[in-house]
Amino acid sequence: MTVLVRDLRPDVPADAEGFARVRRLALPYILFTPDSVRHTAAHVHPAARFRPLVAEEDGEIIGTAQVHLIHDSPEPGQGALNIYVRPDQTGRGAGRLLARVAEEYLAELGATRLLAWALDEPANRAFAERHGYRPGRSAHFLRLDLAHGTLPPLPETPSGVELRTAADFAADPRPLFELDAETVLDEPGDVDTEFTDYDAWVEEVWHHPLLNRELTVVVCADGRPVAFTVAYTDGGTRYSTAMTGTVRAHRGRGLAKLAKIHSLRRARAAGLTEAFTGNDTGNGPMIAINKRLGYAFCAREVRYIRALD
Ligand SMILES: CC(C)(COP(=O)(O)OP(=O)(O)OC[C@H]1O[C@@H](n2cnc3c(N)ncnc32)[C@H](O)[C@@H]1OP(=O)(O)O)[C@@H](O)C(=O)NCCC(=O)NCCS
Repeated sequence: MTVLVRDLRPDVPADAEGFARVRRLALPYILFTPDSVRHTAAHVHPAARFRPLVAEEDGEIIGTAQVHLIHDSPEPGQGALNIYVRPDQTGRGAGRLLARVAEEYLAELGATRLLAWALDEPANRAFAERHGYRPGRSAHFLRLDLAHGTLPPLPETPSGVELRTAADFAADPRPLFELDAETVLDEPGDVDTEFTDYDAWVEEVWHHPLLNRELTVVVCADGRPVAFTVAYTDGGTRYSTAMTGTVRAHRGRGLAKLAKIHSLRRARAAGLTEAFTGNDTGNGPMIAINKRLGYAFCAREVRYIRALD
């Protein structure tokens, strides 16, 4: 019984299913389905040199890694390795092997700074620190019980403001790309991100299989999108927020909250029972919004960083 690490074969159904299953068990706050695993493997920008790995024992996938260059950061030479092992299969060497293969691959690609998310649990922190990683920023996962919780009442929509959904932009999603690109610049984190390639965004983000366009709410002011919240659903009863943003000139007017409340109410009306979201622990405005919506903290993760010689 030996653990081995190999590349994911996204087109083999058992592989995509095994990958998604491990992620759901290890990281239940982020939605994964076999389709989303296949989509990511096929459509991440080629410059990312994306390499999904699996750890296998007796033909069963027990660990996963997403390994890639952070190509959409203005700072070159950064690599990401996000490793998750099935909670009942830790301590068998899968994480260590996945980390080794991922680090070697990223070093070959010329990465000089490695970043890895780890759930804030003593064993994970010790693992990262033993491997030469130092803690960076942290983020929260939050959960809202849509089936039994209460949502705040719908605030009044300010005059000159209109609510649409992403489905209304199906013929031309470019304004949503521009909104996404503008707001992601201000998202706090250890890595700056910028979206510059519209075609790549369409392929990776707009055609993402978990994107629910009807539940993705876009706030327009004078006809122009100025705030939005992006909804993912997994085909079952779970909902999660993939991004929320408001352009600078319209911040502090309650527009992000307005978008999220409408999206959550529609999600509940559509029969979804559980909503997840996440934010950097230093993102004051987003934390304020999520608290008002009734989200409760459910886990914390830490970004670990290692400089390569
Ligand atoms: C976070 C963001 C979406 C908020 O958009 P917005 O339209 O200004 O938000 P709203 O006006 O609906 O609500 C802001 C809330 O934050 C509060 N707030 C503002 N600045 C704050 C601060 N520094 N610390 C704590 N709370 C703050 C406001 O009082 C308000 O809460 P309240 O209604 O309880 O008073 C916007 O700042 C943004 O686009 N940031 C960059 C992208 C980002 O970080 N997205 C989140 C990714 S998880």
